[in-house]
Amino acid sequence: MGHSGRVSSTNHITRQPVPPTDSVRVNAAVAAPKAADAATDRRVDTTFDKFHDRYSTRSLGLKTSPVRALFAVVNRPEVVSLAGGMPNIADLPLDVVSESLKELVDTRGTVAMQYGSGQGEPEMRKHICEVMAVEGLVADPDDVTVTCGSQQGLDLVTRIFCNPGDVIMAESPAYVGALNTFASYQTEVIHVDMDDSGLVPESLREKATAARQDGKSVKFLYTVPNHSNPSGISQSTERRREILAVADELDLLVVEDNPYGLLNLDGDPLPTLKSMDPDNVVYLGSFSKTFAPGFRIGWVLSPSFVRDKLVLAQESATLCPPVFSQFAVSSYLAHWDWRAQVDSFINMYRIRRDTMLSSLAETMPEGTTWSHPSGGFFVWLTIPGAIDSAAMLPRAVTKLVAYTPGTAFYADGRGQRNIRLSFCYPTPERIKVGVERLAGVMREELEIVETFGLADCTAGAITLNLPDAATVTGIIFNAKKTDASANAMTLDGDGSQTIDGGTTASTTVQYTSITVQSDGSNWHVI
Ligand SMILES: Cc1ncc(COP(=O)(O)O)c(C=O)c1O
Repeated sequence: MGHSGRVSSTNHITRQPVPPTDSVRVNAAVAAPKAADAATDRRVDTTFDKFHDRYSTRSLGLKTSPVRALFAVVNRPEVVSLAGGMPNIADLPLDVVSESLKELVDTRGTVAMQYGSGQGEPEMRKHICEVMAVEGLVADPDDVTVTCGSQQGLDLVTRIFCNPGDVIMAESPAYVGALNTFASYQTEVIHVDMDDSGLVPESLREKATAARQDGKSVKFLYTVPNHSNPSGISQSTERRREILAVADELDLLVVEDNPYGLLNLDGDPLPTLKSMDPDNVVYLGSFSKTFAPGFRIGWVLSPSFVRDKLVLAQESATLCPPVFSQFAVSSYLAHWDWRAQVDSFINMYRIRRDTMLSSLAETMPEGTTWSHPSGGFFVWLTIPGAIDSAAMLPRAVTKLVAYTPGTAFYADGRGQRNIRLSFCYPTPERIKVGVERLAGVMREELEIVETFGLADCTAGAITLNLPDAATVTGIIFNAKKTDASANAMTLDGDGSQTIDGGTTASTTVQYTSITVQSDGSNWHVI
């Protein structure tokens, strides 16, 4: 029998008893500041959400990001965060932007601060078409709907196409923001396999056909063909053709999300799916990575019937996309050499990407592999099977490095053996330090496994005896499901908890000895 006992003083589960509602109300009333002091006193809230049983099923599908849960710590300056995907906009000509904003307020302020068109301002849509032309995409401003970032484009497209229970085919791994949107509309995501050339057409055909044979309504394929978030992989031109051919054969709409298309670090942009099959592709674009995310301007380019629905959906969501932002972005594009600015972003990101790739090559433990992105912001790591990326995150943060665990990018519980690293924001020096720290944490994890071993927990029970009971204050226990039929495993210490659901479960208990009872299927105790 193998065993594993990990000791940590920082990882206690906090199983606070939930106070009865009445006592919370009394406490809140006692603590409530007098009206006159309210503005200056700290805000007082109850610890109990009295609406907890009233939220929509839709809202229950929304997941907390594992990194956001550690937000306060990750944002400390000593922590190198390779987790977020914030573009580095330090190079932007703020003086130029500032002047054009002033001019905008002075000359067109009352129009810019007024409500506008639900489809977006004509001037903005014209500029958007000029930007798309750089990627070889010829479009009419009339087919463009302006959105609050491409994130809202994803939301509107899902809103107009999907009913609860509908299926969306998505590459694997897929952008976490898209998965959250799809979950919020109660759709089911079926992941399509990927290889080094991107999404695998045969896998798309197989899985979409199987879903339809199961009576499911498959609504669209979601893909990021250029420098995908999180994998960093780009589809080859030939692969794009094959994917479109399969989509056509299946009569399946393609949603192409392309925020990184112009951030090609090694060559010219590849043709967009939209340019290769205009009638069957809905295209999402964004200024977040090529200008600045704060204006929240993105767009959807779609066939006109789809556009009509999108405009109605946009009107019901926001009345109109922000007019001031649209004028500001238009003015930047008109008055600044934005293409030279994108080239300067490219040069900056290339240095960061190269630093990350060479640091990984120098430091990563054996058995680790990673993607070699030709653009965008991300590198995708596959780590040795003994390490669980989600369970390792808090320990990595205590060693002053943060990343995003691969589990964030799958709707089906996979990703424990993956890590997304972003090279966009930290300086090359910080990237080097961050990768070195991460490699150190991974080596420590591997050493622990070597010392304590791995246990296969098939039918029956195993008891984990912990090394030094007197000093133990917390135990991190991880069990990975290795058999699709495994459903539940019970942990019995001084308390009892059941692990079920996904392929990995992790919990923290405060006891010195625990018994693990499996349900007769295979679990792998880490
Ligand atoms: C693939 C992808 N799609 C969409 C978005 C949303 O971008 P925005 O809403 O800022 O345009 C992001 C942001 O990181 C992304 O990576």
